[in-house]
Amino acid sequence: MLKQLVLITLVCAVFGQLQNEALPPHKSYKPYVISNAEFNSVLPSNFTWQNVNGTDYLTLVRNQHIPQYCGSCWAQAASSTLADRIKIARKAQWPDVVIAPQVLVSCDEYSNGCHGGNSGTAFQWIKEHNITDETCSPYQAYGHDNGLGCSAQIMCKNCMPNKGCWAQENAKVYTVAEYGDVKGEAQMMQEIFNRGPIACYIYATEYLRYNYTGGIYNDTSSYPGTNHVIEVVGWGEENNEKYWIIRNSWGSYWGEKGFYRQLRGVNMLNIESSNCNWAVPLDTWTNDVRNTTKVTEVSNNHTNNFRHTTCIRESNKNSTQLITGPLPHEYINAASLPANWDWRNINGVNYLSFTRNQHIPQYCGSCWAHGTTSSLADRINIARNRTWPDIALSVQVVLNCQAGGSCNGGQPMGVYQFANKQGIPEESCQNYLAADPKKATCSDTQRCLDCTSPIPTNTTVNPGTCWAVKQYPNWKVSQYGSVTGADKMKAEIYARGPISCGIYVTNKFEAYTGGIYKESTAFPMINHEIAVVGWGTDPQTGVEYWIGRNSWGTYWGENGFFRIQMHKQNLAIETDCSWGEPIVE
Ligand SMILES: *[C@@H]1O[C@H](CO)[C@@H](O)[C@H](O)[C@H]1NC(C)=O
Ligand SMILES: *[C@@H]1O[C@H](CO)[C@@H](O)[C@H](O)[C@H]1NC(C)=O
Ligand SMILES: *[C@@H]1O[C@H](CO)[C@@H](O)[C@H](O)[C@H]1NC(C)=O
Ligand SMILES: *[C@@H]1O[C@H](CO)[C@@H](O)[C@H](O)[C@H]1NC(C)=O
Ligand SMILES: *[C@@H]1O[C@H](CO)[C@@H](O)[C@H](O)[C@H]1NC(C)=O
Ligand SMILES: *[C@@H]1O[C@H](CO)[C@@H](O)[C@H](O)[C@H]1NC(C)=O
Ligand SMILES: *[C@@H]1O[C@H](CO)[C@@H](O)[C@H](O)[C@H]1NC(C)=O
Ligand SMILES: *[C@@H]1O[C@H](CO)[C@@H](O)[C@H](O)[C@H]1NC(C)=O
Ligand SMILES: *[C@@H]1O[C@H](CO)[C@@H](O)[C@H](O)[C@H]1NC(C)=O
Ligand SMILES: *[C@@H]1O[C@H](CO)[C@@H](O)[C@H](O)[C@H]1NC(C)=O
Repeated sequence: MLKQLVLITLVCAVFGQLQNEALPPHKSYKPYVISNAEFNSVLPSNFTWQNVNGTDYLTLVRNQHIPQYCGSCWAQAASSTLADRIKIARKAQWPDVVIAPQVLVSCDEYSNGCHGGNSGTAFQWIKEHNITDETCSPYQAYGHDNGLGCSAQIMCKNCMPNKGCWAQENAKVYTVAEYGDVKGEAQMMQEIFNRGPIACYIYATEYLRYNYTGGIYNDTSSYPGTNHVIEVVGWGEENNEKYWIIRNSWGSYWGEKGFYRQLRGVNMLNIESSNCNWAVPLDTWTNDVRNTTKVTEVSNNHTNNFRHTTCIRESNKNSTQLITGPLPHEYINAASLPANWDWRNINGVNYLSFTRNQHIPQYCGSCWAHGTTSSLADRINIARNRTWPDIALSVQVVLNCQAGGSCNGGQPMGVYQFANKQGIPEESCQNYLAADPKKATCSDTQRCLDCTSPIPTNTTVNPGTCWAVKQYPNWKVSQYGSVTGADKMKAEIYARGPISCGIYVTNKFEAYTGGIYKESTAFPMINHEIAVVGWGTDPQTGVEYWIGRNSWGTYWGENGFFRIQMHKQNLAIETDCSWGEPIVE
């Protein structure tokens, strides 16, 4: 009896009424239309940007509800729609551009931050102000309505121990050339087919939020207005049922890997009677447009007192390995390998997961967790032939579980050991907070989280209701080990994908902006972890180099990556690397 009572209370607390997150456009909304989508007399009966001619044009799945509830669906739909259209315009070539919803939640005054908003005015705001990517402004689930207002640091931030945080210059800038509305089944299909996904409004039911697990959702009841914004990425037809294919922002554990399908052509949930919003990105990537405005004032100086400016990273030398099969260098002769091998582009396909920044919203020495988890995510994408969806692993879970270390540094091999025993959930289970939890327990809520209203009133209190998600994608490795030396590294990378490596970061390396790096150091002391995703050979000089992925944002180096000379003058990059082999069904 008592047990039952407790259960009911819990259900009531959790399955609360859904908030209205979809507001009508602000009164100053004015579409800016230069061109209309082409019109095709015949459209295919199935079409989705998840797979067009074998290519997935969609960026990673997000979760608006963590680490606390925030009604930012409108900002999520606008930013992912724009990111996906940038990916289409860039023909899915490296790197994926992940537009930052946080900028909209904090800065777009046409909307109400975590209290709801409109994707159309979000595009208008972007046209008027421009926007940055996730590595400048990570999602924090607070907005200008509850304590996280707009600032130069929200546009782009960087932090370093003993220096505090500052507004980062040289941020990559994105914007829209035009934006407008589209309504009705036929028009929506034309717009999606010819130009890319659109942001649309629905009446989200409690069933959709809490009970939908897959299939074509059929609910032809009539509902008043709309309360939620989603991204429509395609459509299909199956057993005479016509449906839309929709990206949601409720995590990859929800629905069909974060997506869902609903009936098409019957105005279900009011999807076809409401204006959808579209935007065409302006090409700022070809010429690498940056924000060069410099703000010298440092604020938000935090008290972290780290010993190094880089990430303390313990050696792998004495750690346990788990090797169950032959190693690539045993069956591959490095001399027979191609002169260039780059997982960012193998026969035109980019296999890499999104670029990251370990240093914001505050400094955290989690390099050891970044180099390893990004290599694993990339290897999962490789094993899955880079089919939809793009996989991003949670660094925060690695911190919450102390799987090798903390924000004070750690050991890469610990991450693989954890991935072997427990598995690593995806980013949308626990987004990166760049902070150790008050107490790292690796509890269910520290592994995968969902939250509902009430919306916290400010950033110092968190009255929202959160709970542990019990079923979520969880990625394990079957074996892991270490690898050293150029030939063995090449064989490992070629056969199985990126590896993570220790490196000796110097001030000069921190200031790297591009090119093939080299530096002579008498006693390199490994103090940082990065990933090596391939190698190349300079056609002019014949110099061989490694292609490295760093976790310092896209404003650093070559889109967050670097090239460094192979064999020598390379900051010990070939002396302490590790790898894990993900289990992919
Ligand atoms: C897919 O292939 C068709 C037929 O070759 C072509 O017309 C279309 O442009 C391709 N789509 C994309 C997005 O590349
Ligand atoms: C936004 O970016 C575009 C393209 O680089 C530029 O022309 C425009 O001046 C920028 N607008 C603002 C407000 O920074
Ligand atoms: C450009 O940088 C300045 C100074 O940090 C900031 O105020 C502005 O909002 C930034 N704009 C963009 C589009 O990042
Ligand atoms: C930030 O903190 C460091 C170390 O305590 C100090 O040296 C520096 O002056 C501070 N910067 C600002 C702007 O307060
Ligand atoms: C959703 O599932 C819960 C628990 O299984 C159930 O109590 C509830 O009635 C369902 N809600 C709807 C709208 O179907
Ligand atoms: C459309 O997709 C569905 C689901 O994958 C499939 O059952 C159906 O055969 C497809 N139709 C066509 C014409 O390819
Ligand atoms: C949707 O559900 C209704 C009511 O259960 C049913 O009459 C209708 O045939 C279903 N529509 C489709 C396309 O399955
Ligand atoms: C490895 O273990 C040996 C023997 O216990 C010890 O002397 C050495 O310092 C250890 N090396 C590292 C890098 O921890
Ligand atoms: C990837 O491609 C290979 C070779 O074409 C194939 O054997 C394998 O089944 C594919 N894997 C997935 C998950 O699509
Ligand atoms: C945050 O909200 C709580 C509860 O409403 C309130 O007591 C507290 O004063 C607020 N703090 C700030 C900084 O506004």
